[in-house]
Amino acid sequence: MTKISVLGSINLDTTLHINHIPLPGETLHVSEKSSAAGGKGANQAVSAQRSGAQVSFIGAVGLDDGGKFMLDTMKNEGIDLSQVKKRKDADTGAATIMLDEKGQNSILVDAGANAKVDSDQIKEASETIKNSDYIIAQFETPIPATIEAFKIAKENGVITILNPAPASEVSDELLSVTDIIAPNETESAAITGIEVDNEENMLKTAEYFKSKGVKMTLITLGERGVFYCDGNRHGLVPAHTVKAVDTTGAGDTFIGAMSAVLVPDLSNIDEAIDYGQKASSITVQNLGAMPSIPTKEKVEEVYGKEN
Ligand code: RIB
Repeated sequence: MTKISVLGSINLDTTLHINHIPLPGETLHVSEKSSAAGGKGANQAVSAQRSGAQVSFIGAVGLDDGGKFMLDTMKNEGIDLSQVKKRKDADTGAATIMLDEKGQNSILVDAGANAKVDSDQIKEASETIKNSDYIIAQFETPIPATIEAFKIAKENGVITILNPAPASEVSDELLSVTDIIAPNETESAAITGIEVDNEENMLKTAEYFKSKGVKMTLITLGERGVFYCDGNRHGLVPAHTVKAVDTTGAGDTFIGAMSAVLVPDLSNIDEAIDYGQKASSITVQNLGAMPSIPTKEKVEEVYGKEN
């Protein structure tokens, strides 16, 4: 069984259903309000676990009801939470998601306890990291902690996967300890300055990352699919087009599910990408992040057993 450590955020998501995303200065009525478990890190952990990996989580919550709810939810999935800190000095992370009638969203994140994850906590979690096949991180927890975690991983032959979301600049130090980088188009352009609007520019992007020490570049392109390149082979794995109700957590589902089925020499990268996209196509057809993430059985029920 693939062992994955996820270093990342845990958020309680509140979704506000609105007609369209407000323009600056505009006031809108909310037609419905719903809440669900979320956070990029927690969603990716749940996705990997539901696709058959054994996941250990490194992160933090507050000592509030939201934190208890999130930990109960993740524990029920079978995720190892021994490296999750319960902080007295911060609330559990919270996200407010504005969801329009086309299923598109805009998200505001109040980091809370997620911002308290530091290098000391990572050092305490070093055995967990060393015992993993992969470690996954995003940008909803502090970057110095990610660098520390990835250094421990690299020293111990653990493959590091960076999902640089939400968009931010990325230091050469972090790229030098990243094996697989998986941005979307916006995040990729924010890091490299190269717009990924055609294959030539995608290859240039992959070259940029390769020159910084990254082994594999994956660029998620929404309805166009996922581009991958490791310097020797490259390709575009098409998406599975469905009618989206709520895209929240789609990217997280992809990262978690893809990592759960990826083999360490990355030789099945295109099949793993295809599987991850099948999983995320199911997520977008339902409301909420974590509740919509499918199990492997669900992916097989919808798309057939070859997964
Ligand atoms: O990627 C989706 C997630 O982003 C949501 O669950 C929300 O918590 C924000 O972190």
